[in-house]
Amino acid sequence: MKIFTTIEDVREEIKQLKSGGQSIGFVPTMGFLHEGHLSLIRESVRKTQATAVSIFVNPTQFGPQEDFKEYPRDLEHDSGLLEKEGVDVLFVPAQEEMYPEDFRTYVEVHSLQDKLCGRSRPGHFRGVCTVVMKLFHIIAPDTAYFGQKDAQQAIIIKRMVRDLDLNIDIEVLPIVREEDGLALSSRNSYLNKEERKAAGCLFKSLQRAERMIGEGEKDPHRIIQEIKRIIQSEPLARIDYAEIVDLDYLDPLDKIEGDILIALAVFIGKVRLIDNTIVSLTE
Ligand code: PAJ
Repeated sequence: MKIFTTIEDVREEIKQLKSGGQSIGFVPTMGFLHEGHLSLIRESVRKTQATAVSIFVNPTQFGPQEDFKEYPRDLEHDSGLLEKEGVDVLFVPAQEEMYPEDFRTYVEVHSLQDKLCGRSRPGHFRGVCTVVMKLFHIIAPDTAYFGQKDAQQAIIIKRMVRDLDLNIDIEVLPIVREEDGLALSSRNSYLNKEERKAAGCLFKSLQRAERMIGEGEKDPHRIIQEIKRIIQSEPLARIDYAEIVDLDYLDPLDKIEGDILIALAVFIGKVRLIDNTIVSLTE
């Protein structure tokens, strides 16, 4: 695996790979890699001829009160994992490489960026879209891999790719979970033992919602009520949002039909966790 820190050098390497006719798969990450990230990387290694991974804790997607400084980092461990998975290119730019002091250009996906997580994290998706757009231009992959864990992010990136005519195929892969159902996340490392146990309530509430739908419940409000009841019965948990929305516009639904996204953000102590499930109802 070759490691690059400058845009110029990684571009040159990608150019070489492409001139040899190789298809490029790309997995953007913020590092502190876990099995969720690795599931995307394995799929890229399987499906494309060369895989590039980026590790960059992107400052523009963190709010001023958020955890940019504390965000866990362990490049040595990460690069060991990537080497083992057969990754070809690792791109690890410094902040100044991605954002020179006079940087002024941003990418926004209007309306979608203000829903769900966008409401409590203003500017978050503008930061995500900007960095992903830059990385897409730098790596110029054929296929890029994202996790369903960040459902809104995946939907927004797909829309950006469509609206701006990028010639990149976006693949979205299922959420990888711990044994008790907690979705893997770099931020889980913030949880103490008690909080870690309490964090099980997110998945538990989603499972309950799926069961209700399976039993024929059509009223999203009743399902949300039940999700909230389960989460609120956990003293360490505080709900940021719990919503049932459509997959195109992320608007709240009045009736359970078609493909729906049930999305949650919950504070466990000071740690904000997200989770979701997509349910498809075919009549
Ligand atoms: P990060 O949180 O590091 O996640 C990188 C990718 O891994 C994302 O596509 C995310 O959805 C996926 N992922 C994380 N946890 C997962 C899990 N439990 N199961 C499956 N996939 C999972 O998302 C970002 O970084 C950033 O916003 C980024 C796109 C890199 C832009 O800065």
